[in-house]
Amino acid sequence: MLEVKNLNIEFHDHDAPEHIVRNINMTLKYGEILGIVGESGSGKSMTAMAIAGLLRRHDVTTSGEIIFDKKELLSAKRSELRKIQGNDIGVIFQEPMTSLNPTKRIGWQVEESLKIHKPEIGKAERYKLVIESLKNVELDNPELIYKKYPHELSGGMRQRVMIAAAMICAPKLLIADEPTTALDVTIQLQIVKLLQRLNREQKTSILFISHDLSLVKSICGRILVMHDGEEVEEGVADEIFNNPRQEYTRELINAIPKLEKPKL
Ligand SMILES: Nc1ncnc2c1ncn2[C@@H]1O[C@H](COP(=O)(O)OP(=O)(O)OP(=O)(O)O)[C@@H](O)[C@H]1O
Ligand SMILES: [Mg+2]
Repeated sequence: MLEVKNLNIEFHDHDAPEHIVRNINMTLKYGEILGIVGESGSGKSMTAMAIAGLLRRHDVTTSGEIIFDKKELLSAKRSELRKIQGNDIGVIFQEPMTSLNPTKRIGWQVEESLKIHKPEIGKAERYKLVIESLKNVELDNPELIYKKYPHELSGGMRQRVMIAAAMICAPKLLIADEPTTALDVTIQLQIVKLLQRLNREQKTSILFISHDLSLVKSICGRILVMHDGEEVEEGVADEIFNNPRQEYTRELINAIPKLEKPKL
């Protein structure tokens, strides 16, 4: 479904151009969850944004190929890209408060991509779909939530709303960039379980980005490890975890805090 070949990203907002991402390659199959791990600043978000078509800016140069569903996205027309964004590719980010509009009710935010991509759907039907979508992310009282503003919800609920908004057009690919980082551990686990359920039931492929290798291992079949804008290694999650080929991956694994056995 997704093939990234030799992706390079350069920024030009300073005097000298800065090479942020170098020769990244990845493949994501239909129905698969692929993880990208790496420390802060390793280029995970930039890679995700390039795939989502969000790096079309005058100060950024991208090269290589991003083939999604047989279409090459880096060279696609903007109009072509707009048809795909929010419809075939959904995106959720780390902090829902910055992605949600504080002045608009939840219902408005969740139905936004339906209005863009499925204008033929009437108001009553749209309402029904939004309620269904809120239910689908396991929010209780969706009719009540529909009328609320983002600040009236908890962080975990806001992240569920973001997922509902990203999933409403039933995208083939969901890009989740650190979707649980701002949440406490219990809520993190719930969100991960929710993403796994959506992947299983709706066959949505997921690109799951995190700096937390143990979290990525628990949800992803395969992992791409990035460091300093480059690929360190890529492979089956368990194999990478049990038998890392690269020193950097070993360091990442060793950095996972080990739970001490309770003293009896
Ligand atoms: N506008 C910009 N101009 C120049 N460099 C930038 C710009 N935005 C980001 N960068 C750089 O790009 C690199 C990759 O950033 P990116 O956000 O992809 O990292 P990340 O792996 O997602 O990190 P985190 O885990 O903290 O989210 C960083 O070194 C960052 O400083
Ligand atoms: Mg990031």
